[in-house]
Amino acid sequence: MPAVQSAEKVQEVLRSIRRLRPLPANTTALISEIDNPESSTRSVSRLVALDQALTAYVLQVANSAYLGYPSNCTTVKDAIVRLGFKQVRSLALSLTASGPLSQRLAGYRLGNHGLWSHSLAIACAAHWLAGVFHYPDPEEAYSAGLLHDIGKLILDQFVLADYEKIMAIIQSEDIPMWQVEEELYGMDHANVGGRIAEYWGFPAVLSDAIQFHHAPHQSKVRPKLTAIINLANGIAAEENKNLIHISQNRDILPSALSLLGIDLLGVEKIYARLPEAMVAYQSRQLSL
Ligand SMILES: [Fe+2]
Ligand SMILES: [Fe+2]
Repeated sequence: MPAVQSAEKVQEVLRSIRRLRPLPANTTALISEIDNPESSTRSVSRLVALDQALTAYVLQVANSAYLGYPSNCTTVKDAIVRLGFKQVRSLALSLTASGPLSQRLAGYRLGNHGLWSHSLAIACAAHWLAGVFHYPDPEEAYSAGLLHDIGKLILDQFVLADYEKIMAIIQSEDIPMWQVEEELYGMDHANVGGRIAEYWGFPAVLSDAIQFHHAPHQSKVRPKLTAIINLANGIAAEENKNLIHISQNRDILPSALSLLGIDLLGVEKIYARLPEAMVAYQSRQLSL
C-alpha cells in the first residue's frame, strides 16, 4: 500500500480508538489502588464492594472447590485475603472485559462469545505457562492473555470492509492475518490492542505484552511475559488443536521459543500436557 494511503489508514484506526468508551471508573480506581504500594485489604475491599457483580464473582472464585479451603468465606474482605490482590485485579479485568470481548466480530468471523472463549483459553494457558517457565506473576500472565486480542474490537470494522481483499492476500502471499492487517492498516491488532491498553490506563507491562504478542522480540518491558502470551496463543487457540505437527503452527514464533529457552520438542511436550492442565481452571471461568 502507498505510504500516504497507509498513513491515512493509521489515522483512521487511531481515531476509532479515541472513540472507545473509557473503562468504568470503579475498575480504574480498583486497578490503581491495587498497584498502589500503600493499599490495604480494607481499601481494596471497599472498592470491590461498590460493584455488586464483582463482589459476587470474587466470592464465587474464593469459595470454589479447587482452592481447597475447608470453610466458606462470606465477606469480601475474607475473599480478598484468600485470593490476594493480584487475582482480584485479574477478576476485575475479566469482568470488565467480558462485555466488549463477547461481542460478535463479523470481520473476524467470530460469533457471540467467540473472542471471549478464545481470550479465556489463552488467559488460562498463560497462567499455567507462567508456572512452567517460572514467571513470577501468573496473574499478570492471566490478564495479558485475557486481553491480548483486544485490538480486534477496533480492527473488526476495517477487516469486515476489506474481507475479500484480505482473503485474496492471505492466499496469494501465504501470510498470517496479523501480517495482512499490518500491510493494509499500518498496524496489526496487537499494536492496536497495545494502544487501547494505554488509552485505558493499564499498567505498562500489560500494554507491552498485548502490543507485541505477535512480535515478542520487540517487547520493551517484559519480553518473557510477551513470549508466554505468544506461546499460549499458539498452543491453546481452537484452530490449532488439530495440527498433526507443532511445526505447522505458525502462530508460535521462533523468537518466543528462544526467549523461553525451548525448542519445538519442548513445545510438543507442553502441548501434550495442556488439556490436563486446563481442567484446573474451570472454576475461574466466568459464566455469562
Ligand atoms: Fe493475536
Ligand atoms: Fe489470539
